[in-house]
Amino acid sequence: MSKNTPLVAGNWKMNGQREQALELGKLAEGLDKNPVEGVDVMICPPTTLIMPFSELMKGGKVAIGAQDCHTLVSGANTGDISAEMLADAGATAIIVGHSERRADHSESDALINEKAQASWRAGLVAIICVGETNGQRQYGLTLDVVRRQLKNAVPDGATAKNTVIAYEPVWAIGSGLTPTVEDVDKVHNDIRKVLVERFGDSEGGGMRLLYGGSVKASNAKELMAVENVDGALVGGASLKADDFLGIITSYKS
Ligand code: PGA
Repeated sequence: MSKNTPLVAGNWKMNGQREQALELGKLAEGLDKNPVEGVDVMICPPTTLIMPFSELMKGGKVAIGAQDCHTLVSGANTGDISAEMLADAGATAIIVGHSERRADHSESDALINEKAQASWRAGLVAIICVGETNGQRQYGLTLDVVRRQLKNAVPDGATAKNTVIAYEPVWAIGSGLTPTVEDVDKVHNDIRKVLVERFGDSEGGGMRLLYGGSVKASNAKELMAVENVDGALVGGASLKADDFLGIITSYKS
């Protein structure tokens, strides 16, 4: 079991309009009725919903995060949003380097590194995503790929407070497939080792390592029980409050 306070974060991706506040409300109500102590809960909705959602959740148990940011504070960057704007809207964290952004927007580790620093500059937590593709996995390159991503995408200055790492095998995202518990254990142990070597016992050991990729209520318990898994980054199963609550309650003893 994780020695760090687990974080279960939902990534809504490009899903949801204002009416989706109903699911957020159900989630908050579920957590009030049936509290799961010692677990942090977050929803990262599309940018348009960050402000209304953070107002709705003010003082409650569900934190609101963002899915991406620009590296600069402000400027001539049509269509982009800065970390400071997201903080102003009420976000407390930003997912950076999700594999969909790496693939669809050609985001490099160097850019992700800058985005993580931008998140910190705005006082927000950076949730930095890493993970191998299916091809890389088949060639036995998982640990090499993840190590390279950690080295280049995680900035110097990362601490247990300002950074969360999400290991998300690309082939497991949205596919219904998950690595075996043994594979997750192996990768998370390796990530922990790399982080402790680079940032020391307290910061590297205290940084939360989330597993992401087809997490659902039915597999959450075994995945969350892995030693260096400190929570989950959840896509599809975070859109419905009941499904997401099922994942969170896997932490109930
Ligand atoms: P999934 O997505 O849970 O739908 O597989 C995870 C993610 O992309 O963060």
